[in-house]
Amino acid sequence: MNTSLPIGIFDSGVGGLTVYRALHEHLPNERFVYLGDTARVPYGTKSLATVERYAVENARFLAAHGIKMLVVACNTASALALPAIRSALQIDVVVVIGPGARAAVAKRKQAGGLRTQIGVIATESTVQSGAYTAAIRKADPDALVIERACPLFVQLAEEGWADNEVTRTIAETYLADLRSKVDTLVLGCTHYPILRDVIQRTVGEDVNLIDSGEATALEVKSLLKERGLARLSPPTGALERQLCDDLDHFYVTDAAERFARVAERFLGAKPSRLEAVEVWGEDRLKS
Ligand code: DGL
Repeated sequence: MNTSLPIGIFDSGVGGLTVYRALHEHLPNERFVYLGDTARVPYGTKSLATVERYAVENARFLAAHGIKMLVVACNTASALALPAIRSALQIDVVVVIGPGARAAVAKRKQAGGLRTQIGVIATESTVQSGAYTAAIRKADPDALVIERACPLFVQLAEEGWADNEVTRTIAETYLADLRSKVDTLVLGCTHYPILRDVIQRTVGEDVNLIDSGEATALEVKSLLKERGLARLSPPTGALERQLCDDLDHFYVTDAAERFARVAERFLGAKPSRLEAVEVWGEDRLKS
């Protein structure tokens, strides 16, 4: 396997940019190719069969472009479609559920305290799958887990309403009762790190918030090393890596302009290389 190949990342849309940002920060020598399935977002309310189909089409599209590893940034696709993706690809596939769950258990052991549960907030489909509870219990069979769907958080993050009156009221409605129950809370959806401050204040400053994307970036770093796939020096010509510079390639399945605007709000930079594509059927450029 060629170590200079990029790492593929896909998400249902723009939210996975939080995972891209974490990967970029921890792996400055690597190049990334990101696919946001903006034509078919959201995944969080769709059925298992549909999410599997979308996820496999996205994974095949990225694999056809030549990647050395695939990171599934979307929690919903990670929770529902990992077996389907693994059977469709020949390369390593990393999803965000296991790293997020393991990070929660590790943090919690350090924390202790009176509240006894690990909370997970995610989309409806992720919560229904029970994937986080299973992964947390695998890391700690005695863990008590409480999962909660917070679907409106996705739209609030997309609007850039990271901390206003409406967001605070919705956060209070979703999370108030978790305050007395959880000592650790997993942000089990790509968009939720954008609302991190308001979530933290709502559940209490002493609750450990776990960003699954951040935890995944650390696991990808060790896996690359273990497999001998890590790039040991910066990509040729790169002086200092910047988020969204022209070494990273971004694809979307619709509305590239909107993706660029939201990316700028999330990351402070617009992708230099951004193309609209179709990932189902024949891969072909739309524009
Ligand atoms: N990317 C999705 C996730 O992390 C959130 C948005 C959606 O519902 O597609 O679960």
